[in-house]
Amino acid sequence: MFLPQLLTRLEQGEKLAVLTCYDASFARLMAANGVDILLVGDSLGMTVQGHATTLPVSLEQMVYHTEAVARGAAGRCFLIGDLPFGSYQASPEQAFHASARFMAAGANMVKLEGGAVMVETVRFLVDRGIPVCGHLGLLPQSVNTTGYRAQAREAAQAEQLLRDAAALQDAGAQMLVMESIPSALAETVTRQLAIPTIGIGAGPACDGQVLVLHDILGLTEKPPRFSRNFMDGAGSLGNAVQGFVTAVKTGSFPGPEHGF
Ligand code: KIV
Repeated sequence: MFLPQLLTRLEQGEKLAVLTCYDASFARLMAANGVDILLVGDSLGMTVQGHATTLPVSLEQMVYHTEAVARGAAGRCFLIGDLPFGSYQASPEQAFHASARFMAAGANMVKLEGGAVMVETVRFLVDRGIPVCGHLGLLPQSVNTTGYRAQAREAAQAEQLLRDAAALQDAGAQMLVMESIPSALAETVTRQLAIPTIGIGAGPACDGQVLVLHDILGLTEKPPRFSRNFMDGAGSLGNAVQGFVTAVKTGSFPGPEHGF
């Protein structure tokens, strides 16, 4: 699936349901149950590989999982590949070489973490035909500087996030993930930007919601409080995925219990 189809869904008033996905079987299941976007997230470092952070994940590993997901989805979902730590921060050229690997593996877009510091890289990629999704708020690849804490709770940080979001869009980013920020701030960003916003722990106003697959299936020992276990009472993996999609599309997820 290509970006224009996603944008049509948004124009028709639909919210976008996004899940992380790491293999072909789940990609098939998600495609069959209406997930709009599959994010091959570097969270696989934790969910699949058992690491404590996303930092050890390599570009080779991400490309391998992207190929598997692309085979399973077979063009039925939009596919985002997550640039892993160390594969894009050094220079725009480094980011281009890494992104080209994702696009060849079947991704429709790449995601990278960071605001103003990434603007030159985003422009470089977009000018060379690579659609980019930004990622602001809690940045898991910066865990060693910020920890896993909600972000932008103070006015100065919130203003910086607003500037970063606008700068990413101006540089050509075509989507923005916002993680663990106040709902009101996510709502302001969503109103100010023309590109779709996808929230995770960012309240209900975003254009779409993303969750980590293992969290919605109840496989995570300490899931984040903004997530929900959709496996509870679902009876099958397909029903759990469909439950998530329905909850996002009808606006019953995230509920008031997930607000900041
Ligand atoms: O890697 C990942 O799963 C992500 C989401 C948390 C947005 O980047």
